[in-house]
Amino acid sequence: MTRASATGFLAGVAMAFAVAAVVVDGCDNVPSMSMDDACLKASTSQPLLRLCHSELLNAPDSDEVTVYAVISAKSAQWAYEASSQAATGLLGNASLAGDERAAYEACVARYASARTRVMAVQSQLLECSYASPKQELIHARVDVEACGGELSRFTASPLYAINADDQLKATLAYELTGLIIGK
Ligand SMILES: *[C@@H]1O[C@H](CO)[C@@H](O)[C@H](O)[C@H]1NC(C)=O
Repeated sequence: MTRASATGFLAGVAMAFAVAAVVVDGCDNVPSMSMDDACLKASTSQPLLRLCHSELLNAPDSDEVTVYAVISAKSAQWAYEASSQAATGLLGNASLAGDERAAYEACVARYASARTRVMAVQSQLLECSYASPKQELIHARVDVEACGGELSRFTASPLYAINADDQLKATLAYELTGLIIGK
């Protein structure tokens, strides 16, 4: 795609967070479909379908699937930033036991890695570059799951429930990206 259309496309994605009716130029050979169709095709479970509808609530309808995948990766990025901050906040508790502290420290590192990956995915999709976004999203999911593993002995931790949602966000971005470049 040309630089001009790429710029328009980027602006469209940015606006997609605020307004419903946005026309964007996009990448070649990427399907366009309604948000409902994209969510149906991407979702392998009810929780995933619910997450998809909530993330794409303000997405422009009948648009290139790239827009949905980028919004989903952006939602994951924001969630991982928030979870990393939550873990850092929990580390501020001086009476935390050593093993719980180690778990939160591991989670901070894992969320940083997952965040970098979902940001790379957004850049690649916006550049119509498909070499590794799915691989990045698999690794992002592995990072977030690894934090979940660390927390498995601390199920009462507020981060435990948040982490389960965070895993789903990587999966949804992966499935939406799969609508562009195949499963
Ligand atoms: C700090 O950690 C201790 C030990 O896990 C816990 O009992 C306490 O509720 C925590 N305090 C806060 C403010 O979270």
